[in-house]
Amino acid sequence: VDIGALVEPARYGSDGIPYGLLAELRRDTPVRWCEPAGYPPFWAVTGHSEVRDISIAPGRFSSYGEIAFPFRSGRTEWYPADSVPRSVLGTDPPFHRELRNVALPYFKPRTLRALEDRVRELTRNLLDTVSGTRDLDFVTEVAAWHPLRMLCEILGTADEKMLLRLTNAFVGSADPEFVGSAERGEFSRWLYGLISDRRARGSRADLAGVLAHAPLDDEDILIYLLIIAIAGHDTTRSALAGGMHALVTQPGQLGRLRADPSLCESAANEIVRWTSPVVHFMRTAVEDCEVAGVRVRRGERLALFYPSANRDEAVFDEPDRFLVARDPNPHLGWGVGEHYCLGANLARMEIRVFLEEILPRLAEVRVTGEVEWMASNIICGVKHLPMRWTLH
Ligand code: HEM
Repeated sequence: VDIGALVEPARYGSDGIPYGLLAELRRDTPVRWCEPAGYPPFWAVTGHSEVRDISIAPGRFSSYGEIAFPFRSGRTEWYPADSVPRSVLGTDPPFHRELRNVALPYFKPRTLRALEDRVRELTRNLLDTVSGTRDLDFVTEVAAWHPLRMLCEILGTADEKMLLRLTNAFVGSADPEFVGSAERGEFSRWLYGLISDRRARGSRADLAGVLAHAPLDDEDILIYLLIIAIAGHDTTRSALAGGMHALVTQPGQLGRLRADPSLCESAANEIVRWTSPVVHFMRTAVEDCEVAGVRVRRGERLALFYPSANRDEAVFDEPDRFLVARDPNPHLGWGVGEHYCLGANLARMEIRVFLEEILPRLAEVRVTGEVEWMASNIICGVKHLPMRWTLH
């Protein structure tokens, strides 16, 4: 089995998510030991029920330590868990709950309902800038800006170009297109700027202000902001880009959605199942145990492959078809359990509102060139999508 395809960013960049390989693993050994050349060893967890069972047992499968594969080859051991900066993603209860609760009020449905009008307004403004009959790169001209503007809104900054450049540099740090696009420390300095400003003004009006005044040390706050900036941007961009590609290349589904816009909510969910923007996150076995019939030893690392869980034929009918009305849709694209995506309600709303706004305006659309993939083993999605459309 070609295990390198699971870890090598360049392979993701050339071929996208290795669905064929993941299906092979899932059918054969849904929990499989891997020792890829140039990377630390891990169990590849590819079955839906295994990804789920591990995610909902943080007492047995810890999130401490590195949360993902190294960005590049050359290191064959995991860093010790206590040498990795702690974050909301990389901690367990009870401390994890404390961290999560700091930002939680911002992501509650009630807060988000109040944001929906603003999301709609931002979407309309964005679409106005790309209307008419034109050739465009849907990712760089549309998909990247939509979540970014929402993030600016939540973080309380107008500096969207900076945020875009820096999140690209971070997630694309193994992608030749983005390497070196931010100098070392630039991201931290900019985020510290937000924190100091909110403290100086005593402002808690946005998420940066809430975090700046939380009972956490500066390092924790910085990493929190970093995770929200990255988790909130590249994932949603990938979902929108891959969702648009799916709709345009499957006109039957596009037609169905146009005919019944009330399906935009379920379409947003299906888009997250279909694109599964997060490729994997890691856990560590806290004790010797058995998972899907294999012996896992204490301290061994497990990589949860969400795209694979989301195409598991044991759970989904026709898993390899994109179906806007899919119901039920118990996908794991947002994770599940203790670390269930904090931004899921926001991202789902962003995608739904985007669909509701673009569909009535979209007269003609086709893909005009090769799709290109982000060379990342963590958040792999479409990074360029050349299209021609007529948008009223
Ligand atoms: C389509 C878009 C998105 C996808 C597919 C996605 C996916 C995920 C996944 C799979 C996890 C679980 C990690 C685990 O179990 O270890 C997660 C956690 C998280 N996500 Fe998202 N996410 C998206 C959008 C967002 C947005 C918009 C934000 C914030 C603005 C966000 C913030 C977070 C945070 C803070 C966590 C950590 C939660 C915790 O550890 O308790 N995400 N996300």
